[in-house]
Amino acid sequence: MKIMHVVGARPNFMKVSPIIREMAEHQEIEQTLVHTGQHYDEKMSQIFFDELGMCKPDIDLEVGSGSHAQQTARIMSAFEPVLVQDRPDLLIVPGDVNSTLACSLTASKLHIPIAHLEAGLRSFDRTMPEEINRLMTDVLSDILLTTSPEAEDNLVNEGIDRKKIFFVGNTMIDTLLRLKKQATTSDVLRKCGITDGVYALVTLHRPSNVDDETVFRGIMNALETIGGDIPIIFPVHPRTRGHITKLGFHTSNTTDEKGIHLLQPVGYLDFMQLMMHAAIVMTDSGGIQEETSILNIPCITIRENTERPITVSKGTNQLVGTDPQRIITAAQKILKQAPQKNTQIDLWDGKAAGRIVSVILQWFKAL
Ligand code: UD1
Ligand code: UDP
Repeated sequence: MKIMHVVGARPNFMKVSPIIREMAEHQEIEQTLVHTGQHYDEKMSQIFFDELGMCKPDIDLEVGSGSHAQQTARIMSAFEPVLVQDRPDLLIVPGDVNSTLACSLTASKLHIPIAHLEAGLRSFDRTMPEEINRLMTDVLSDILLTTSPEAEDNLVNEGIDRKKIFFVGNTMIDTLLRLKKQATTSDVLRKCGITDGVYALVTLHRPSNVDDETVFRGIMNALETIGGDIPIIFPVHPRTRGHITKLGFHTSNTTDEKGIHLLQPVGYLDFMQLMMHAAIVMTDSGGIQEETSILNIPCITIRENTERPITVSKGTNQLVGTDPQRIITAAQKILKQAPQKNTQIDLWDGKAAGRIVSVILQWFKAL
């Protein structure tokens, strides 16, 4: 059984690593790992291979950055010969990034079956590049692996055969639960000069938030106000860094005072430690909505919609939009009195990869 995995961007590594580990226990499975090179900075890629204990990619397409069309096309051109030569029996693609769509499209034209990890998530907002990637990848996939029950409803509503859909849980949470103890040894709090429970953690990288000057200015002004009450730790995504510099916000690189403190993107273990001890997390990340829910840390999502509604209904997530006053009000309310919520989300139990491998083995048997 020849299985090929694709990774390209930061959240992909946490999602795919548990499946590779689980499949390594099965001698009948031969695995190949392809990195598209969509993310390439050490802090956006290599650090996760080291911390997650992932094997080096067998093939690195090294496509780098570009416009959507350029990046997608470059991945497709580089990936096609790999597929032609290796001819895997199944391609596994995670999430909703450009690498996911580009590799699915390439494989489907070569009649190579596809399993989509995290299928069926929908924000119902087609201005998000990820929504287009999700819709297209799901249409092309033969095995749709879902993290939550509403994903199946979304897929069925789009005409996808229920027999192809498998509710398996969340492999990003497999990684979180596996490495949670190890993350407690990180000394990132000391390095940042911050105290347990007395800081806010922020990440922002959605184009609709950071590429639009008016929206980004509003969000940063809200953070400046919140930063008057509590230090804000902000590991800055590479997409966002240039915008912060250009707009000239008042930020500091030292953390011995309140205000916004910018960091380079941090590794997975440091980031988990920062989440676990934060008074509040404010983000537009998909994965962080899920992780804070399982860690029981209040999360404000600075977006108008989420493709992960289960983190709102069952987790600690609040969708507040991008209006500065709404962000400030929601954050101040949480900082006054943190809600006590003990999150339990069905099948986010650290065992999703095991279920995925069972589904895949069954699928091969039925061929
Ligand atoms: C991508 C995904 C997004 C995901 C995010 C995770 C798409 C359409 N978007 O967004 O869904 O949430 O990754 O982090 O696939 N850059 C660097 N170094 C890097 C990578 C990027 O400097 O290692 C800079 C480049 O200037 C690049 C920009 O960041 O143009 C954006 O990178 P890109 O991969 O196109 O999109 P992301 O915003 O990272
Ligand atoms: N993350 C990290 N370092 C950071 C910011 C995030 O390790 O500085 C991790 C985070 O814990 C989660 C993943 O990266 O596992 C989320 O990736 P990102 O927010 O880039 O993408 P999204 O989930 O929005 O697609």
